[in-house]
Amino acid sequence: EDMKLLVTGGAGYIGSVCAQRLVESGHEVVVVDDLSTGHRDAVPAGSRFVQGDAAEVAHDLLAEGFDGVLHFAAKSLVGESMQDPAKYWEGNVVTSLGLLAAMRKHGTPRLVFSSTAATYGEPEQVPIPETAPTRPTNTYGATKLAIDHAITSYATAHGLGAVSLRYFNVAGAYGAYGERHTTETHLIPIVLQVAAGTRDQLQLFGDDYPTEDGTCVRDYIHVLDLAEAHLLALEHAAPGTHRIYNLGNGTGFSNRQVVETCREVTGHPIPTVMAARRPGDPAVLVAASDAARDQLGWKPERADLATMVRDAWQFTQARHAQ
Ligand code: UFG
Repeated sequence: EDMKLLVTGGAGYIGSVCAQRLVESGHEVVVVDDLSTGHRDAVPAGSRFVQGDAAEVAHDLLAEGFDGVLHFAAKSLVGESMQDPAKYWEGNVVTSLGLLAAMRKHGTPRLVFSSTAATYGEPEQVPIPETAPTRPTNTYGATKLAIDHAITSYATAHGLGAVSLRYFNVAGAYGAYGERHTTETHLIPIVLQVAAGTRDQLQLFGDDYPTEDGTCVRDYIHVLDLAEAHLLALEHAAPGTHRIYNLGNGTGFSNRQVVETCREVTGHPIPTVMAARRPGDPAVLVAASDAARDQLGWKPERADLATMVRDAWQFTQARHAQ
């Protein structure tokens, strides 16, 4: 059944793809974004746009009567979170608490929250299940974990129906919606900048990890498969419960394998130089996503890494052609 939904951070990479899928699915979508990292032209046609802080906007806007909130708006750079923790505690935790208060005041029943694999820290067990200990190794992960705890309390005390989705490494694009950060730190978009000629070379951060080829291993998930999980989570948000699901494909790719796949897809040699390890990087992050599959009925359909890179590459080329 069609819902009226508030999408915070709907001008960002993942938020815009999800907002677009929600609009396509017939939902009424209002996007709120402060455009600090998002782009006005990434807000999907057919949605209403309000520029501002998620909590401040929600304070009045939710009075209109909404069926739910999808909360993507956040600061999300691990390195920056270590340099400037206030930006993360205030930007992520304080804003989310304000949003929860607004939802409570206006009786908004459902929340889908963008959580992260960074809540787990260095894993004891791979693939990582949701029952694994949460000991974040960076401020970014700590703020997302704090918000997860707050959501649990609101669900228990006030009847909120909430789902947190813990993303692993998101990749790919959906047509005109893709990854384009002013400060780019993610592996695949950086490699594609090299392929597109806007960056000279890739620095590989560390080749002495305890993995097969010495580089870090990550679990990549297509942004469109991620979006479908949000649609399912909305349907499954039950009053008074907070469920937490990992979202990944359960397959690890090393950084070198990612670069090799990018070479095959783009035909570019991708010059690479070795560099020191990046602080805070766990060696291996791979998700156990059985709970999302079993309980939400989620079935990722684009698990092939080359498909993700191809979609991201098409997006990059289309933007350069503009
Ligand atoms: N890497 C390089 N060179 C670069 C950029 C990245 O070698 O120029 C390496 C990193 O060191 C890491 C791997 O590529 O080993 C992946 O790095 P990303 O920055 O693309 O992704 P992360 O795994 O660090 O982080 C992602 C999300 C975070 C989230 C985390 C949880 O961006 O928000 O997954 O797993 F917290």
